[in-house]
This record gives sequence, C-alpha cells and structure tokens, in this order.
Amino acid sequence: MTAKDNENRAGIVLENTKTRWSCRVFRDEPVSKDVVETLLDAANYAPSPMNTQPWEFVVLTGEPLMRFRENVAEWLKTPEQKSEHEVSLLPTGDYYTSLPKDLSDRKKEHLERMGKQAAAVGMSLKEAYPFTFYCYNAPVVVTVIGDAVKRDRHGLEVHQGIAAAIQNILLVAHAMGYGACWIGDIMRFGRRLHEHLGLDSKKEVVGAVALGRPDMDSPVNRQRVPKRPPKVDWRGY
Ligand SMILES: Cc1cc2nc3c(=O)[nH]c(=O)nc-3n(C[C@H](O)[C@H](O)[C@H](O)COP(=O)(O)O)c2cc1C
Repeated sequence: MTAKDNENRAGIVLENTKTRWSCRVFRDEPVSKDVVETLLDAANYAPSPMNTQPWEFVVLTGEPLMRFRENVAEWLKTPEQKSEHEVSLLPTGDYYTSLPKDLSDRKKEHLERMGKQAAAVGMSLKEAYPFTFYCYNAPVVVTVIGDAVKRDRHGLEVHQGIAAAIQNILLVAHAMGYGACWIGDIMRFGRRLHEHLGLDSKKEVVGAVALGRPDMDSPVNRQRVPKRPPKVDWRGY
C-alpha cells in the first residue's frame, strides 16, 4: 500500500461514513440472503471487549416478518401500550428536565423534525411514530440479540461492542446502496418480542436494523439531519 492508496481508501471510508443516513421508507423489493450474510460478516469484524463478539442475530423476512408485524399491531392495541405510547411519543413530566439541557433540546429538535417528515406524507407525528415499532416497511429486519447482562461496567462494554457491530452493518449496507435504520424502539416490545422469537431466558433483544432498498421517491428519505461539530477539549495539541 502506498501513501496515495491509503489516502484514497481513507477518502472512500470517510465519504461513506459521512453520507450514511437513517432510511425510513423502503422499496418493496426483497434483499437476498447473500447481502444479509455480507452485512453480518461485517458486523463480526467489529471490536468487542476481549474479543467476546457478544452479538447474535435473528433475521426476519417474508412470512416470519409478517407474523412479527402482526404481533406488533396486537401489542400496540393493548391498553397499556396505548397509554405508555402516548407518553413516550410526546414526553411529558420530567422526561426532558431529567436530561442535560443541550440533550433535551436536541431530542425536542429531533421530534420536531420527525413531525415535519410525517407532515410531508400527510400524517401527524402521533400517527407516524408507531411505524418505528414495525421497523417501518423494511423487507428485512435484523434483530440484534445479546446476553442479558447487568448494567455495570462489564454490561456497558458488552453493549458498546454490540453497538459497534450494528454500526458496521449500517455502514456496509450504505456502501452497497441499501438503506438501513437502527431501531432502538424495538426494545420497547421487550418481553413480547423475546417470546415471539423464542429466545433463551438469558438473552435479550438490544436493537434491530431495518434494511432494504431506499425509496428515494419518498420525501421522508430526502431529508438529512444536521450534524453539529463535536464537543472537544483539546489539550496539549
Ligand atoms: C441507539 C440508537 C437507537 C435508535 N433508535 C431508532 C428508532 O427506534 N427509530 C428510528 O426511526 N431511528 C432510530 N435511530 C436512528 C436515529 O434517530 C438517527 O441515527 C439520528 O436521528 C441521526 O440521523 P442519521 O442516522 O440519519 O444520521 C436510533 C439510533 C441509535 C444510535
């Protein structure tokens, strides 16, 4: 590898990293198993604490994905979800004030932006928000499973490793022309999803990736979120 090769490679990786975006409307097209295998192989190369590779995946498409969505629909109809969902959708009480001010401002800004995206397709935020639980209309959903670990230092490291694996999936999917969205909201489906997937009691769903070809005709997909410069305290530089 020459210095020029390195420079070219860095340029490509940087460009791919900076142009990745969260896709929330997908084309009605299947994704081949080969593609998903490539993405999961990329996930496997993520760094992990002591090389534990603490991630597992259950990949849903076709019938199993349809059954998952039917279950989500049933869950959203339950009275507890209806009320809890209202709260999480438009946070009230000390939800915002419990966060540092700059973070709560950014969360509010995010919800406002999601509201505008929903309006662009003729929906209110309230109507549009539940689509996150279905993983939007993605033809493939990669559920990400980890061991149920205590929320201590060890647990945090395990989750950080899994997050790195998810990011690898997002970056490679983007490079291959696929759209993807990290779905943390899937954790709200919790116990019910655990049972739906038939997981061992020691496992837990820690996230999901909605995957497919992006529908670029949708105004939802044509918006990009602004990125702020990082907060950095340079010392000795
Ligand atoms: C841990 C985590 C959880 C997320 N959960 C969701 C989710 O449940 N639904 C969703 O639509 N987007 C979700 N996202 C995507 C973020 O909203 C998105 O990354 C952020 O708004 C920045 O936009 P960008 O990915 O287009 O740069 C999640 C991202 C992360 C890292």
